[in-house]
Amino acid sequence: PAQTNREPHRPQYHFSPKTNWMNDPNGMVYLNGTYHLFFQYHPNGTTWGPMHWGHATSKDMVHWQEQPIALYPDSLGTIFSGSAVVDVNNTSGFGKNGQTPLVAIFTHHNPELEKKKTGTHQYQSLAYSLDEGKTWTKYAGNPVVPNPGIVDFRDPKVRWYEPQKKWIMTLATKDRITFYSSPNLKNWAKESEFGQNVGAHGGVWECPDLFPLTHNGKQAWVLLVSINPGGPNGGSATQYFVGDFDGKTFKPYSTQTKWMDYGTDNYAGVTFANTGNRTVLMGWMSNWQYAQVVPTSAWRSATTVPRELGLTEVNKELYLTSAPVKELDALNGKTIRLNNISVKGQYDLTAKTGGPSGLFKLTLSAAATQDFAIVLANEQGNELVLGYDKAANQYYIDRSKAGKTAFEKGFGKRHTAPRLSTDGSVSLTLLADVASVELFADNGLTVMTDIFFPETDMKKVFIKSGTGVSIRTLQYTPLTPSVDAG
Ligand code: FRU
Repeated sequence: PAQTNREPHRPQYHFSPKTNWMNDPNGMVYLNGTYHLFFQYHPNGTTWGPMHWGHATSKDMVHWQEQPIALYPDSLGTIFSGSAVVDVNNTSGFGKNGQTPLVAIFTHHNPELEKKKTGTHQYQSLAYSLDEGKTWTKYAGNPVVPNPGIVDFRDPKVRWYEPQKKWIMTLATKDRITFYSSPNLKNWAKESEFGQNVGAHGGVWECPDLFPLTHNGKQAWVLLVSINPGGPNGGSATQYFVGDFDGKTFKPYSTQTKWMDYGTDNYAGVTFANTGNRTVLMGWMSNWQYAQVVPTSAWRSATTVPRELGLTEVNKELYLTSAPVKELDALNGKTIRLNNISVKGQYDLTAKTGGPSGLFKLTLSAAATQDFAIVLANEQGNELVLGYDKAANQYYIDRSKAGKTAFEKGFGKRHTAPRLSTDGSVSLTLLADVASVELFADNGLTVMTDIFFPETDMKKVFIKSGTGVSIRTLQYTPLTPSVDAG
């Protein structure tokens, strides 16, 4: 589709709601050939407000259609974050005449109780759909997990635990995770707590996820925990632990603090349910530090691209890796390949790529011996700089001169991430959309996602190196929009 007259800063291949405020992705699930994305949504404004679950569907996680709102606030409260499961065995009994229910497990947030400061205003509830998420019925027995007296008690992520044929709920409970189990999604028993004395605690724990991944034929469990604030570059961010889970207790292999994404703009990410052996995550591509004041008009926020998660080992530590899903290749234009280019000073890639495109994928590899940077620029002199700093052994994204920054004092900064890989060669995959960059370094071992707001599209790309760098391979692929013109 032609992209003339589109709204400033509207992402062209990331999901963003047509109008109004969005935060966390919720209830992501694959069902009968369709991916469902629900999301924290305020339909009456472009800042956070009484929460609903918005809804979008996709056949490929890349082209999304926004659907009518799925869940509205009710007498028990507004609808905070949570998950959805396909209840294949109809353990809940919500299925009628052999139907398989789709069950949403979410937090009810009760503003009336909140005002009374009882500290019990968040509790977990159910809703189910028998028509693939089009219409929903709230369970009459809500809430299913009442509040035990913990102010922050939310964001249930539920999965089936096959070895013990039970559901496991991973719940954020202030400064720790509490695990519950249930045979039927309705009756929950507490199993254990994790995290009070481990991990980052610069803010409240939110939006957890627990899932197994296989590494060298061995299964390990990953526990994601979003925290706000306390992220490595300020504001909200997502840490993770790798360990064992036995249906009752999570035991981390190591106490090292690890971050899924060192950029400032991948928060509250969780994985899709019912995707078989694939583990695919999308996050909210913003940060509580400034999400409500970013300079977009009709809407606020987008999701990250879907990312396939894996594990890799470096110096006996297991780390999470993230890679853009292969479905994104549907957006690929014609790839330009350049080999063995040496850059000293500035190399204008735009001149080589057959015309400018603000939307692209760039993959390159270079010896890990010299500093270099990729610069996105426009006619106005806005510059977004991403690079590798050899001496610090870091990657960085500097958005301090990338356009509008004045809306929040902490926005226009340089962000850094440790290079964890010990490979002699640096390899980068960079996805650029109108208002975001997603950097996957060393096969997704170090990831950085940052948003930015240039005055006009960043259609120029340069490689820069003061010391000189030899780029071994470089591939530039323009990407086509996946969203309709606004
Ligand atoms: C995380 C979060 C969740 C909560 C939701 C409310 O961004 O604070 O903990 O359920 O947003 O919109």
